[in-house]
Amino acid sequence: MNISHIGVLCSGGDSPGMNCAIRAVVRTALFNNIQVTGIKRGYAGLLRGEFQAMNLSSVGNIIQRGGTILQTSRSPEFTKAEFRKKAVDILKAQKIDALIVIGGDGSFNGAMALWRELQFPVIGIPGTIDNDISNTEYTIGFDTAVQTAIEAVDRIRDTAHSHARTFLVEVMGRNSSSIALKVGVCTGAENVLLPNEEINHQKIVDDIKRGIARGKDSSIIIVAEGPVAGRSYEIQRVLKETYQMDTHVVILGHIQRGGSPASNDRFIASQMGNLAVEGLINKNFPSVTVVQNGKVLLTDLANCITKADHNFTEYQTLAQTLSI
Ligand code: F6P
Repeated sequence: MNISHIGVLCSGGDSPGMNCAIRAVVRTALFNNIQVTGIKRGYAGLLRGEFQAMNLSSVGNIIQRGGTILQTSRSPEFTKAEFRKKAVDILKAQKIDALIVIGGDGSFNGAMALWRELQFPVIGIPGTIDNDISNTEYTIGFDTAVQTAIEAVDRIRDTAHSHARTFLVEVMGRNSSSIALKVGVCTGAENVLLPNEEINHQKIVDDIKRGIARGKDSSIIIVAEGPVAGRSYEIQRVLKETYQMDTHVVILGHIQRGGSPASNDRFIASQMGNLAVEGLINKNFPSVTVVQNGKVLLTDLANCITKADHNFTEYQTLAQTLSI
């Protein structure tokens, strides 16, 4: 069966660059005389039949916009087979032959089930600021989120220096270390605390005191969010109660998810959107567009349904070595 009509949706947390991927999907499909339907609000919108016909101008003037014009959601219903069956019935009723899912590993699990249970053709495009999908070096949104966090930490450093303060700056990423490590190295942070690392408060205190003794005015500790946002407050409490050390907490939160996509996100998303449509045309599904050895290519979807923590602890050591 030739693919003549594609559905595209975003699922899970949004990330800057998703719009670039949508644009590339729509424009590549239309270039190849393939009809495209945008599905609003992810799998939840699919189950409610929230469709939008896409034409060339539906994706005009969006390459620079953060978020996703299709909007997104997390859909607990989609973990159930009965709802996935309903979704495919809805897609078939719309005469949609294949689905492109832009999202993270959870979204890809949903896509994988559509293929395994119902043989519905799917291709995934990795979109999450966390950069935590197996078998791809990159996920759309990571660079922009890192840049946003760097700009925020630079500002915090200004005031930290003025008042000779220590800040715990918590970055997003759940169990992924990627954002924390890159931001830590790029902001000259004194320490980076990884998501599931047992906190050595004594070492934090010793490092800060050593810095002060050699004339440092401020310290920045980047705290990876971990499973539950807000762990910085507990670290702050222990530092105060056990070591009488004052710190300030800043949780960057969703500020990292917004904003105009950086060049890497625009460039990779454009290539991935284009390749996803070509993959469908060439019947190369179920698959995912990934970056491997710096190149955008397709790999089997089964390779990308688990999380991977690109936890290069050498970057943690690098941050500490360079900030002694
Ligand atoms: O997965 C992306 C992400 O931004 C994580 O870094 C963060 O923990 C989570 O989503 C927040 O999710 P929500 O926007 O649903 O609160």
